[in-house]
Amino acid sequence: MPLTLSDGLSLMNTTIKAIYPGTFDPMTNGHLDLIARGAKIFDHLVVAVLANSQKSPLFTVPERCAMLTAAVKPLPNVSVESFDGLLVDFVRSQHAQAVLRGIRAISDYEYELQMALMNRRLAPDLETIFMMPAEKFSYVSSRLVKEIFRLGGSVEGLVPELVLEKLKERGRH
Ligand code: PNS
Repeated sequence: MPLTLSDGLSLMNTTIKAIYPGTFDPMTNGHLDLIARGAKIFDHLVVAVLANSQKSPLFTVPERCAMLTAAVKPLPNVSVESFDGLLVDFVRSQHAQAVLRGIRAISDYEYELQMALMNRRLAPDLETIFMMPAEKFSYVSSRLVKEIFRLGGSVEGLVPELVLEKLKERGRH
């Protein structure tokens, strides 16, 4: 039985599925932190790896999906998929209601606002939810992880152990 509010809104006893899209090349502990936070508030969270990115990736889509799948194993309501084309089309195909994105610092905001509003224009019924990762990950990005690793620096603590192993396998060139 839905709870009806005086303004006509109704709170249905419905489950909320959210999509957490990104490039994840590679996933970082900041991504994992956000996934864990999202898993606490959404009934189901799908981590969606963009397959047709313009960027030339270090890891293939199956490699990125495999690393994510292993890392989210302890979270039963989280799954991993890849997608190409428009994000809003993928969200619809998944029958999801929300997109989850992380905001680390004010510098992320402009790009994220632009994407959220563009996605709203394309799919007005879709909501973008922003969450902040833990402060200790606020300066972590996949791009910097790759650069530091390539140039011989330590990325320990910035990425999950399984990503560190994969980076080492790949080598520093
Ligand atoms: O990890 P990223 O690179 O910040 O993720 C960007 C991503 C994948 C969320 C964005 O590029 C995206 O949604 N791409 C799919 C194509 C699309 O829908 N573009 C219009 C976005 S308004």
